[in-house]
Amino acid sequence: MTDRYAVIGNPISHSKSPLIHTQFAYQTGQDLSYEAILAPLNGFRNTVLTLLDEGCRGVNVTVPFKFEAFQLATQLTVRAQAAQAVNTLKFDGTEIIGDNTDGAGLVVDIERNLEFTLQGKRVLLMGAGGAAYGVALPLLNAGATIMVANRTEDKAHKLAAVFAAHGSIQGSSYIALAGSQFDCVINATSSSLADSLPPLPRGESASLTSSPNPPFSIGENMKHRGIFAPNALAYDMMYGKETPFLLFAKEQGAAQFADGLGMLVEQAAESFFLWRNIRPDTAPIIAKLRLI
Ligand code: ATR
Repeated sequence: MTDRYAVIGNPISHSKSPLIHTQFAYQTGQDLSYEAILAPLNGFRNTVLTLLDEGCRGVNVTVPFKFEAFQLATQLTVRAQAAQAVNTLKFDGTEIIGDNTDGAGLVVDIERNLEFTLQGKRVLLMGAGGAAYGVALPLLNAGATIMVANRTEDKAHKLAAVFAAHGSIQGSSYIALAGSQFDCVINATSSSLADSLPPLPRGESASLTSSPNPPFSIGENMKHRGIFAPNALAYDMMYGKETPFLLFAKEQGAAQFADGLGMLVEQAAESFFLWRNIRPDTAPIIAKLRLI
């Protein structure tokens, strides 16, 4: 019998999850169906319980229901507990297991697809909302040292305090970042949706600072570089367009750039693994989505 899965959100018509999971199923020979379901804003719980009754095996959960999914789960993985949000539910008899695969998806995309090792790296995580909570623990587990910056500074300190037991993490305002450099800068704010840029301190232009014979002493040179260390990766969790943050990173001399498409496919692969215990090959699907 074909096993049924779905993604629930509001809105949902834009979701690429049905396409991704259908490709995973085809590639791995798994007999399953995967559909997009629009839940009313006050109807997430009923939608999930109806699906459970109908024999559905699991669902992905997207905006704005990740916190409700966290509350509905009868069991939570450690990473879902840490994120205080759930993007994957697995139905197991009467149990509803809640997981969060967003952070694992980000780390796999950075480490395997972009070949950027996080162990020992200084990561600037911008934002202190749901997206930042979802990725903080997997980044710490990968060995990164995290500075969280947020417009509302209090929220950055609060996030850092929540995760402090798991590794090296501190909160900051944007203005206090001036003079610091990072190996990896991740945009987990919703700024890109509004075509705006978090208020990052700006260095001198990259061409000036990357000159082979800089007219400055080393200290001066570093001061003019801005927040991106040499060989830095700039990562925007949004996908589908060149965001103001990625443009800023180019201008400021970051070396590597990525949007969130790889993370989207990798978090889906992680959900697929939770449900089916088999890992799909993500590379051909990322490549295919780039062409759409
Ligand atoms: P999400 O679930 O996508 O993280 P959220 O919980 O609403 O959404 O959080 C949005 C985050 O983006 C917040 O950290 C917000 O900063 P504030 O807490 O100061 O509001 C951040 N954000 C949104 N627009 C931004 C902008 N233009 N510049 C910087 N940060 C921004």
